[in-house]
Amino acid sequence: MSAPTTVLITGGAGFIGSHACVELLDHGYELIVVDDYSNSTPQVLARVERIAGRFVGVVYELDIRDRRALSAVFDRHTVDAVMHFASLKSVSGSTSMPIEYYDTNVGGMTTLLQAMQDHGVHQLVYSSSCSVYGEAGPGPLDESTPARPTNPYAASKWACEQILADVCRRRPEYSVLCLRYFNPVGAHPSGLLGEDPRGTPGNLMPYLAQVAIGRRERLSVYGGDYPTRDGTAIRDYIHVMDTVEAHRVALDHLAGTRGMRVYNLGLGQGSSVLDVIGAFSRACGRPVPYEFAPRRPGDVAELVADASAVRRAWGWRPLRDLADMCRDTWRFQRLNPDGYADSARRPTRKQ
Ligand code: NAD
Ligand code: WQD
Repeated sequence: MSAPTTVLITGGAGFIGSHACVELLDHGYELIVVDDYSNSTPQVLARVERIAGRFVGVVYELDIRDRRALSAVFDRHTVDAVMHFASLKSVSGSTSMPIEYYDTNVGGMTTLLQAMQDHGVHQLVYSSSCSVYGEAGPGPLDESTPARPTNPYAASKWACEQILADVCRRRPEYSVLCLRYFNPVGAHPSGLLGEDPRGTPGNLMPYLAQVAIGRRERLSVYGGDYPTRDGTAIRDYIHVMDTVEAHRVALDHLAGTRGMRVYNLGLGQGSSVLDVIGAFSRACGRPVPYEFAPRRPGDVAELVADASAVRRAWGWRPLRDLADMCRDTWRFQRLNPDGYADSARRPTRKQ
């Protein structure tokens, strides 16, 4: 099996997928991008082209659950490998719309696998999540930590991992790399690409950025009474540029992978909510206002990766630190105070 040169990217207009497009275009790959823009906008891909200085490649607006449309994409192109980012990703959204989450995340995965199988494509990089570990912390979690998903989103990501493991166990021609991201944040250093959530951000870094730019009054710190060094919850933040660099390196290793391998993607270092507020305040040059609020239901005190497996396997490790993540997030927010232009959005369904 040879190293892939044409990569089909599902969810290529999303936060991580768009950065992956830049990374792969910069390294000479040919891309086929599939996205239904349910949580993104075509404008993102125009920005990808501006950064990369070349066309993204072929772009299809379609829902990955549309078996016929997806199959037609594989009919038209020779695909060497797939990077599968497309999914719904809000934990709270998944508790209110579990069926939609299973349908998109698990149904989307089986539809994709069927299309791949029908067209003899067997190399896949899958976006999994540290959420599969559930309440397994504290302490660095390695990949052998038993999965204990605690919400439908996490359960759907774990279900996809199990499907992939089953396929690989029974079909030796498959090569699958499952990357469990911890907390990807940050933005492209150009300030053209970043995270632009719809409505009120549910995650810490985009919320902080919107407070810093004046779109929101103050951050609520969910819980100051955790058994951690400063009482706030600890997470393992990883720069989105490191995250997508790992995907590019993964492509080099797919051809030599037999079956499925699972790797954590994190720094292997925990930062508390107060650490992140401090780092962001330094990045934007003024204190970001915050107040303490009750713990958020379902949150755990600490979730930190043992990130050594990927280093041992590929000799790769993330290089950017929390200051870099805050600096780049702030640059994106400063240059795009309202995120990607709202007028260009084509919402198709609720998150
Ligand atoms: P995102 O929502 O920004 O990107 C997902 C993209 O997929 C969007 O462009 C959306 O329009 C598209 N999409 C959604 N459903 C689709 C469908 N049915 N058909 C076609 N396209 C569809 O999310 P992200 O933060 O870039 O996350 C990418 C992947 O990484 C997801 O699989 C997510 O579960 C995983 N992940 C994300 C994080 C995180 O903190 N961002 C952490 C761990 C894992
Ligand atoms: C980080 C910390 C909050 C917002 C989520 C998903 C997980 C994965 C990564 C996809 C927590 C605190 C947050 C705020 C706060 N995604 N916080 N005030 O919850 O670690 O992980 O993203 O796979 O599945 O659950 O990330 O950014 O929401 O929160 O104090 O307004 O910041 O309590 O301790 P989380 P987060």
